[in-house]
Amino acid sequence: MAKIVYFSVTGQTKRFVNKISIAEKIEITLHNPFIEVGEPFILVVPTYVAELLEPVYDFLETGRNQTNCVGTFGGGNRNFANLFCFTVRDLEAEYGIPVLHTFEFQGSATDVEKLEKELDTIENANRSTEKSSQLF
Ligand SMILES: Cc1cc2nc3c(=O)[nH]c(=O)nc-3n(C[C@H](O)[C@H](O)[C@H](O)COP(=O)(O)O)c2cc1C
Repeated sequence: MAKIVYFSVTGQTKRFVNKISIAEKIEITLHNPFIEVGEPFILVVPTYVAELLEPVYDFLETGRNQTNCVGTFGGGNRNFANLFCFTVRDLEAEYGIPVLHTFEFQGSATDVEKLEKELDTIENANRSTEKSSQLF
C-alpha cells in the first residue's frame, strides 16, 4: 500500500488525509520527526513559517526520506494571496522535491481525487518493480 506522510497543526491536513482509504498514513509529530520511511511516499504539509514546521524539516533530513519523497501536496489558505502554499514551494527550492498539488484547508473532492491518482501511480510503480525483481 502506498504511503502518505503528513504534518498537521490545527487538524485540517489530518482531516484531508483521513479522506483517503487507499494509503498507509504516517503522521510526523514533535515526538517522532526522525522516523525513516524506506519506500516512496507523498508528503502532505500545511503552510506556516519554517519555525513551526521544524519536525517536517527534521524528517526530510533523516536517512533517505528526501529521496523517497515523490512529491508534496501543500495545504493553505488563498487569503494569504501570493503566500498561498509557500511552504511546499520552499521545500521544492531547498530539496528539489516537486510540488504535485496545492489545496485549501481539508481539501475538496477534486483534491482527494488528485491525491488518490498520485498514490495509484506509486502503487503501480511498486508493483512493476516487484514483478521485474521476480524475473531475476
Ligand atoms: C498562523 C497561521 C499562518 C498561516 N500562514 C499561511 C500562509 O502564509 N499561507 C497559506 O497558504 N496558508 C497559511 N495558513 C493557513 C494554513 O496553512 C491552513 O489553514 C492549513 O489548512 C492548516 O493546516 P493544519 O490544520 O493541518 O495545520 C496559516 C494559518 C495560520 C493559523
